Amino acid sequence: MQTIREIATLRQIIKDARHRGQTVGFVPTMGFLHEGHLSLLRRARAENDLVVLSIFVNPLQFGINEDYNEYPRDLERDSALAEEAGCDLIFYPAVKEMYPRGYATFVDVERLTSGLCGASRPGHFRGVTTVVTKLFNIVTPDRTYFGQKDAQQALVIRRMAADLNMDLEVIVMPTVREHDGLAMSSRNVYLSPEQRKAAPILYQSLLQAKESIKKGERSAAAVRNQIIQNISAEPLASIDYVSVTDTTELQEIDRIQNQALIALAVRFGQTRLIDNILVEV
Ligand code: PAF
Repeated sequence: MQTIREIATLRQIIKDARHRGQTVGFVPTMGFLHEGHLSLLRRARAENDLVVLSIFVNPLQFGINEDYNEYPRDLERDSALAEEAGCDLIFYPAVKEMYPRGYATFVDVERLTSGLCGASRPGHFRGVTTVVTKLFNIVTPDRTYFGQKDAQQALVIRRMAADLNMDLEVIVMPTVREHDGLAMSSRNVYLSPEQRKAAPILYQSLLQAKESIKKGERSAAAVRNQIIQNISAEPLASIDYVSVTDTTELQEIDRIQNQALIALAVRFGQTRLIDNILVEV
């Protein structure tokens, strides 16, 4: 497995692979890999000839008071995990390789980015769609893999790829969870032991909401309130948002019909965790 820092070098390797008729699978990440990322890499390995992983903590998608500087970084650990999961190439560019002096171009997906995490993290999705477009242009994948844990991100990327006629398939894989239900996230390492113990309340609340819906609840407000009540009972948790939306446009809904996305963001101290479930009635 090779680690490549320059865009030109990666381009040449991919060009050579394409000349040999190889397909390219791509998993974009910010590193500090966990089982969620590894499940994407394994799927990419199964479906493509060449598997590329990018590790780039993208400054553009962090707000000024967010955790860009603290974001966990460990290339050695990531390399070992990635290689074991079948990765062929790690693209690990420096910030100035991705955003050289004079950089002035941004990609914005409208509407889908206005609610949920878009409302509490202004500019976040513009940073994500800009860097992902650049990465797609550099890697030119046939297939790219994202996790359902970042449900809004996955929908935004799908929309962007369709709207901008990107010639690739976006594959979204299920959220991978710890044994107690906490969604895997690189940010879980920030949690204190007490916060870590409390954090499974997110998934438990989502499962309870699912259960109420199964029993016949159809009011989105009632489901939302039930989750808010549950999480508010945990003193270490502070709710950022709880949303019940449709699954394509991410608009808040009144009644739960067909499919709905229940998504939330909750802070434990400085750490902001997200989770979601899809429900079908
Ligand atoms: O999900 C992430 O890790 C990031 O948002 C992504 C897609 C790698 C873009 O920086």
